[in-house]
Amino acid sequence: MIGRLNHVAIAVPDLEAARAQYRDALGAEVGPQQDEPDHGVTVVFIELPNTKIELLHPLGEDSPIRGFLDKNPSGGIHHVCYEVEDILAARDRLTGQGARVLGDGRPKTGAHGKPVLFLHPKDFNGCLIELEEV
Ligand code: CO
Repeated sequence: MIGRLNHVAIAVPDLEAARAQYRDALGAEVGPQQDEPDHGVTVVFIELPNTKIELLHPLGEDSPIRGFLDKNPSGGIHHVCYEVEDILAARDRLTGQGARVLGDGRPKTGAHGKPVLFLHPKDFNGCLIELEEV
């Protein structure tokens, strides 16, 4: 059911420093900072030949990644995003097998303007999974 790895998201304590590191030290194509107020994050996408990296930084006081950075002050891998063709079919299949979807269970619009859902990390080996419809 899942398709390509769309991106790996890394929570970072200093977004501009991380962006500069990927651009200057790692020599990657880095995008601009984008505020995503619906998700409580500011993001930078980095284009790699086979996937993307999403640098995440908290936006606002109740950002969902603030607690993650409190526990991991130097940053860390926050989630992986897999592509699916039909996000509602994917959700129904997963919830039918007991997996939990975060939030109200309805897809939100993600950073690429496509519908996304997050799956509970306790149901997936400790890994927060984002599904994105492509
Ligand atoms: Co993501």
